[in-house]
Amino acid sequence: MSTAEMVRSKLAGEGSGHDWFHIERVWRNAIKIGRAEKADMFIVQLAALLHDLADDKVVLDEETGLSEINYWLEGEGVPPNVIEPVLEIIQTISFKGGTGKILGSLEAKVVQDADRLDAIGAIGIARAFTYAGSVGQPIFDPQYEVREKMTKEDYRNGKTSSIHHFYEKLLKLKDLMNTETAIQMAEERHQFMEQFLEQFFKEYTVDEE
Ligand code: ADP
Ligand code: NI
Repeated sequence: MSTAEMVRSKLAGEGSGHDWFHIERVWRNAIKIGRAEKADMFIVQLAALLHDLADDKVVLDEETGLSEINYWLEGEGVPPNVIEPVLEIIQTISFKGGTGKILGSLEAKVVQDADRLDAIGAIGIARAFTYAGSVGQPIFDPQYEVREKMTKEDYRNGKTSSIHHFYEKLLKLKDLMNTETAIQMAEERHQFMEQFLEQFFKEYTVDEE
């Protein structure tokens, strides 16, 4: 079984926006960015495919996820000098309220950019509301404030709405892209989110005559 098939069967039916189709889009974007940036494509592809398998929404805890990934790669005969950077990438790329570590390798930058591209634009909008549906969070609650600084716990459990999530995370991602290729790909997606928010508030603010 290929790594792609293993990931697909593991994430089938995942309902919070980390399903196989997310992985497939990240994989494709990572290939596009990685080629343009001349990254090691074996590492990039494995990390893109496996990047969500240590997420606390998908497995019990990160530790368990990582050792399962390690076990899988060893079983596939992947050499240690590939396994090590792949595991490192998986541990470092997640946003988690903006508390993420600084990335060292080009391959980590590529995979993080690919993952972040999938959180913005039309697809990002769709994912934000899918996530909200899965945890029972409102579309928009004007009583909440936009949080500037968040711990990982706040990010996961704090009071927020999907529209707030745009200001807490999604609109920031364009300027957090690492590679020139992703910076360019993010531009159109960012503009589309701004347009969406403008229209949302236009419809939300009803003129009374
Ligand atoms: P990652 O771990 O890759 O940084 P998350 O697991 O935090 O991403 O989020 C998965 C998807 O759900 C992303 O598209 C993200 O923008 C969205 N999301 C996360 N938290 C919220 C939230 N509170 N409201 C709406 N969407 C969210
Ligand atoms: Ni992801």
